[in-house]
Amino acid sequence: MKPIVLSGAQPTGQLTLGNYLGALQQWIAMQANHDCLFCVVDLHALTVRQDPVLFRERILDLAALYLACGIDPEQSVIFIQSHVPAHAELAWLLSTFTMMGELDRMTQFKDKARSHAHNVNAGLFTYPVLMAADILLYGTHKVPVGEDQKQHLELARDVATRFNGIHGPVLVVPEPLVTGGGAARIKDLQEPLKKMSKSAESDLAKVMILDEPDVILKKFKKAVTDSLGVVRNDEVNQPGVVNLLNIWRSAQGVSMEVALDHFSHNQYGKLKVETAEAVIALLEPVRTRFRQLRSEQTELEGVLARGGELAMERAEAMMKRVLTVLGLPLNPRRFSSDKVHS
Ligand code: TYM
Repeated sequence: MKPIVLSGAQPTGQLTLGNYLGALQQWIAMQANHDCLFCVVDLHALTVRQDPVLFRERILDLAALYLACGIDPEQSVIFIQSHVPAHAELAWLLSTFTMMGELDRMTQFKDKARSHAHNVNAGLFTYPVLMAADILLYGTHKVPVGEDQKQHLELARDVATRFNGIHGPVLVVPEPLVTGGGAARIKDLQEPLKKMSKSAESDLAKVMILDEPDVILKKFKKAVTDSLGVVRNDEVNQPGVVNLLNIWRSAQGVSMEVALDHFSHNQYGKLKVETAEAVIALLEPVRTRFRQLRSEQTELEGVLARGGELAMERAEAMMKRVLTVLGLPLNPRRFSSDKVHS
């Protein structure tokens, strides 16, 4: 039995290079020797107002991007969160095992409440419970994510442990898997103390996976560095330079030592241009495959329908166990004996 892996990203616009290096690159590498499920978490994205027409397109775009990056539907289950109603159902059940104080400590909620002050909805507050449900629904062992999601994973672990403490060992307590080498925290190109985020206002701050090569080059050439003029691994005084080094080495798959050796006798110009070139080489094939996949919408929808069915079958098996231990009567139409939900 391979260990079960689940991860996801929100369809709230295009993905950034941070999403790619911090999460997707790991997902792809894990497929061969793990039982992987990759989810487009559309329900999570509703915590921010979405235009329905655009939102539907973005959900399909994100699924196509997963495939373009190298998620293989023959090896992994790729699906849309809202296709499996048990995510929302389990989130409700788990919310009764989650303390207000725990949710109140979530730094992402505090940040988002600040940046969306006009719409601090209850979903934004309970968001980590839905994320816990995504993970716990599939008996997930490992969750590959960037650094910013670690606190949410800790909560999922605490909720699972609390549930099991009361009702027995039903839920698997998942392990976070945060990639090394600086890729777990790719920084904003204009403000290198902040993480690179889809929602950054300045376009120059973020490289998008689908950016054209000339746009990528321009963004790296304008990346903020410092006035020290030496390439060193000094995160405190040179966060912009260290970010470029981390991006270059993550794109090349080499260590910091190799990166320092390569750039240490150079000015920042070479570091910026070569980092852009490495990123362009990494993303160019993704962009080409994405365009192709997106032009074949029926095939894409077919992949998602199959993924949804596989995910649903697995989710229902867990729901049966959870409902049973909670003492909720099973709906005979949902869990009839001719359906295989053991
Ligand atoms: P999201 O959509 O914000 O990001 C998707 C993944 O990309 C990682 N990431 C980064 N990694 C490195 N550097 C960055 N600058 C950077 N920015 C983003 C994120 O850590 C994440 O792994 N709540 C999640 C989605 C989610 C989820 C889940 C993830 C919902 N349910 C269950 C795992 C398991 C989120 O908003 O990710």
